Parts: sequence; C-alpha cells; structure tokens
Amino acid sequence: MSQRDSFQNFLARQCVWTIAVFTLLSVLQLWSQSPELPPGPVQGKIRTACLECHDSRIIVQQRLNKAAWTKEVDKMIKWGAVVDAADRDAFIDYLSSNFPSDKPAEPMSRTSSPKKRDHP
Ligand code: HEC
Repeated sequence: MSQRDSFQNFLARQCVWTIAVFTLLSVLQLWSQSPELPPGPVQGKIRTACLECHDSRIIVQQRLNKAAWTKEVDKMIKWGAVVDAADRDAFIDYLSSNFPSDKPAEPMSRTSSPKKRDHP
C-alpha cells in the first residue's frame, strides 16, 4: 500500500467516525428534547396532530383528569390542531389514561431542575 493510499484510508476513517459521532449526538439530543409518547392505539395520530406546534414534553408533563384533558384537546382543536372528530374521544382516553392527575410527575429534565422549595 502506498503512503497516499493509507492517508486516504485515514481520512475516510476519520470521516466515518465524525459522521458516527455526530449522528449519535443528534440522536441523544433528540431523545433529551422530546420524550417518546407512550405506545397506544392513537400514538401515531397524536404525534401527527399534536407535535406540529410544540414538543411532546409539554404533553407528557401534564397530569390532568379526563375532564381537563377534554378541555385541553378542545382548546388545541380551537387553536388549529387537526383532529378527526372520530378520533377526539380516543385522544382524550389515551391522554387521560397515560397522563392522569394521580400519576407521579415526570422526572425533571437535566437542564431544568428547580430546587425544591419549602412552603412558608
Ligand atoms: C396549532 C398549533 C397546536 C397544535 C396542533 C397543538 N397545540 Fe398544544 N399548544 C399550542 C400552543 C400555542 C400552546 C401554548 C404553548 C406554550 O405555552 O408554550 C400549547 C400548549 C399545550 C399544552 C400545555 C397546556 C396549555 O394549555 O398551555 C398541552 C397539554 C397541549 N398543548 C396539548 C396538545 C395536544 C394533546 C394536542 C393534539 C390534540 C396539541 N396540543 C396540538 C398549540 C398547538
């Protein structure tokens, strides 16, 4: 193998590594930014209808009862979310069973962890 070949080899390997590292980093960043919606019959539809304007974090952080989720979904529809009338109830069921008011809160993200404050 000539010296030139091995230099090109070296460059190619550098290149592959750089791409691999960048891919990994961006995947990690995506993970930390958008928590995955829990699996369910309308998971895909929720992803399409609800993540158009904002991140999934705003949804998975909520702890609401069914009445409150109903209001929330209706509010989002009023604001422009495209939800098929036939899917509305399934959306509300999915949200209120995955993010009910009696479920412990989502662990705080690493970037924003406010200190617990004692109430006076
Ligand atoms: C047309 C854009 C749009 C779509 C589509 C949309 N939202 Fe929102 N949503 C918003 C905006 C704007 C806010 C307020 C954002 C903020 O406070 O940063 C918001 C906030 C929220 C909040 C936080 C509580 C609140 O009311 O501020 C929840 C929960 C939420 N959306 C759920 C959903 C769900 C579930 C869907 C799918 C049915 C959805 N959103 C689709 C625009 C949208």
